[in-house]
Amino acid sequence: MSGDTSRLWGGRFTGTPAEAFEALNASLPVDRRMWREDIQGSRAHARMLGQQGIIRSDDATAIDAGLAQVEAEMEAGTFVFAPGDEDIHTAVERRLTEIAGDAGRRLHTGRSRNDQVITDTLMWMRGRGEAQAAAIAELAQALIARAREHIDTLVPGYTHLQRAQPVRLAHHLLAYVWMLDRDYARLRFARDAASVSPLGSGALAGSGFHVDRDLAARELGFTSVTPNSMDAVGSRDALVDYLAFAAQLGVHLSRLGAEFVWWSTDEVGFVVLDDAYSSGSSMLPQKKNPDVAELARARASRLAADLVGLLGTTAGLPLAYNKDLQDDKHYLFDAADTIDLLLPAMTGMVATAVFRADAMNSAAEEGFLAATDLADHLVGEGWPFRRAHEAVGALVRALADRGAGLADATAEDLAAAGLGGLALPDLTALASVESKDVPGGTARAQVLAQISLIERRVAGW
Ligand code: ARG
Repeated sequence: MSGDTSRLWGGRFTGTPAEAFEALNASLPVDRRMWREDIQGSRAHARMLGQQGIIRSDDATAIDAGLAQVEAEMEAGTFVFAPGDEDIHTAVERRLTEIAGDAGRRLHTGRSRNDQVITDTLMWMRGRGEAQAAAIAELAQALIARAREHIDTLVPGYTHLQRAQPVRLAHHLLAYVWMLDRDYARLRFARDAASVSPLGSGALAGSGFHVDRDLAARELGFTSVTPNSMDAVGSRDALVDYLAFAAQLGVHLSRLGAEFVWWSTDEVGFVVLDDAYSSGSSMLPQKKNPDVAELARARASRLAADLVGLLGTTAGLPLAYNKDLQDDKHYLFDAADTIDLLLPAMTGMVATAVFRADAMNSAAEEGFLAATDLADHLVGEGWPFRRAHEAVGALVRALADRGAGLADATAEDLAAAGLGGLALPDLTALASVESKDVPGGTARAQVLAQISLIERRVAGW
């Protein structure tokens, strides 16, 4: 034997890799966290090889016992990585061979790291996704609980960050739950994409042995097997689906974060964040900063970058496997870790925040939030909407000029705006929200129906 036999691919080589090449090529620091999936995948593969008579059953048994030992060492933290361990797959197989000798050398029969790595990655992603589905549900439940509690709190709704019309705080909070409902669906889509097993695709052309792909796939929690070996080892669509989910969830959390940052300012004062989810300033004694909300606002960019990073990495790649694909896990892990940090912190912030119903309710009564209701009232009296809009606009301009609100309009103001003799209708915020008695509207009954609907959906997640 010549060359570097400590490596999986030593036979072809007489020289050893340069340090600079090894440093660049090694993916162990990133992919070692998939050790569980790698061992699980190898045990399923070896069992299948034994059952198919591709390797002897005593070898299959020795591999299984050896991998169980590797797993125990990983679990206990006693596993020692060797300098030549290029990635987690190399490390596990190297250690197995130390333990089980030639039986270990039979593990890679009918398999390549190309189908192995994407199999491991999809399993890892599915596992993480399950936990995140539960974390999304917890945030949704926290928002729903706050919505129930504040069914009768009214708050200005905004467009262009200008006060527009009053809404129920519940309605505002529930808007985010509907976003999460779609995020959840996107996560499920990614899970389904990750449920098709690439194992048995070999390096790119399939396996020359009579492997039972379905058997191994079932054991590893896949629901079917990939129909094209080159697509199977050369594509990362399922990861892109996950990263698209993560990026969109990130945008939603960012928007929710931005609301809380703004609502907690002295200028607005709609919300007071709990000490447990705020920080102070090292210099300014009075400060209580909305860090969770700010970091959620910022991390949307990082999640979007992860998505774009993987798309860019795979664009232009000829089939099938290319080493470029090794970088996929950098993006996947970063996005999964980011989501794992954000969701519980946001849930805690939402669950513990104090909503200042007094400040919200009085803001909802101020200014011109009922202007549209007044125009709608005129329409009820037979006015064409455009004329009503113009007259109310003129009234608002006159009142705003002297710093008054709609509630302060006098008979003279009305007459000047062409509304002489008009008996003003109920222009309270409550009358305004109650008048939107359509599905998706702000009337109490509609919002309560909305809560029941989303609650049932979340319970079914
Ligand atoms: N660590 C590699 C990865 O993550 C394993 C695949 C290596 N395949 C190869 N043909 N050299 O993609």
